[in-house]
Amino acid sequence: MVGLNGHELINKPNKPNKLNELNKLNKLKYVMTNGDKKILVVGGAGYIGAHMVRQLVNARCDVVILDNLSTGSRKLVHGGEFVQGSLGDSNLLDRVFGAHPFDAVMHFAAFSQVGESMNQPLKYYRNNLAETVALLDAMVRHDVKRFIFSSTAAVYGEPVEIPITELHPCAPTNPYGATKLAVEHMLADCDAAYGLKYTALRYFNAAGADESGEIGELHDPETHLIPIVLKAATGQIDHIQVFGTDYPTTDGTCIRDYVHVNDLAQAHLLALDALLGGGESAVYNLGSSNGYSVKEVIGKAEVVTGKKIAVVEAQRRPGDPAILIASSEKIKRELGWTPAYENLEKIIRTAWNWHLKQILNVQHRTLNSLCSAIL
Ligand code: UFG
Repeated sequence: MVGLNGHELINKPNKPNKLNELNKLNKLKYVMTNGDKKILVVGGAGYIGAHMVRQLVNARCDVVILDNLSTGSRKLVHGGEFVQGSLGDSNLLDRVFGAHPFDAVMHFAAFSQVGESMNQPLKYYRNNLAETVALLDAMVRHDVKRFIFSSTAAVYGEPVEIPITELHPCAPTNPYGATKLAVEHMLADCDAAYGLKYTALRYFNAAGADESGEIGELHDPETHLIPIVLKAATGQIDHIQVFGTDYPTTDGTCIRDYVHVNDLAQAHLLALDALLGGGESAVYNLGSSNGYSVKEVIGKAEVVTGKKIAVVEAQRRPGDPAILIASSEKIKRELGWTPAYENLEKIIRTAWNWHLKQILNVQHRTLNSLCSAIL
């Protein structure tokens, strides 16, 4: 179906078949009152955005997804109304905002590779910063005053203390983190000038997949540790390169804080609920508060998959801080965030489930095309 002046518009059933876990716990006070809330999810065909859409639909929100599919995939869109297009297209934004009285906007559409941002900073400033200016402009034009922003632990740079709280100084060591921090500053200015209320959620290392195995991490090229390790476990690649073994950590490899993607989505729902209830703008960390080194992640993946993973030690990757571990006490205290996945093995297991399903799907497609070629 084509709508909004030639842009693809796909209507899929937008009604949930099960209640969101948070609703069951009566944690959401405003998301479900006075009828369905209308939410625009920008970047809803990406890894984290797709998990968000699923939870919003389960919370009975009316969801519109705007995604240019530059890194996202239609395969990950299961619900909501899909509009293909870019934030740079102000006419499209006016049509989308004109057609839907949104209660809030969630923004996931950003490039997020630290290494790439070092080599192509302007790509990051254009997409992550300039396109967000266009989105906020459209929100101001259409009087939409609530915004939830995917920020990142990369805003902190090299930590001066661990765990990192929201009061830690922000000194990004790469353009990716710099663009996210610039958006946070812009949001504070928009609050002061236009009364636009926002929540910036600083993710540490998003990982895992929905238990259904229907959505998960699907990057091309893949640069993130856990999916690459799982590819090595299935033999899709020969080995995993470990970037740097001379960091000041116990085994010399970088330590990260892995947080399950559905826990991230749950935090967004709580943040949305707070804003809908008249909450003030806020910034929160989202991590599990546990740190694992690259070698430990590989070890856990070997346990989960039952496979030996070949490792090649390589040079440090530019822009990588040695240790990033969150304190997420603030969001737990203020919004009642209760992450369900605090154990890395459990997180990797969900990613492995998704990964195996992907391989099965490819095998099915190959088999089907072979059969049609023969018949
Ligand atoms: N790593 C390897 N080999 C690989 C891939 C990664 O050794 O093949 C290492 C990296 O050097 C790093 C760790 O594994 O030390 C994790 O790397 P990821 O690429 O999985 O994740 P990052 O920590 O670089 O980045 C992620 C998000 C960013 C976010 C950052 C904050 O992608 O958006 O976490 O912690 F800013």
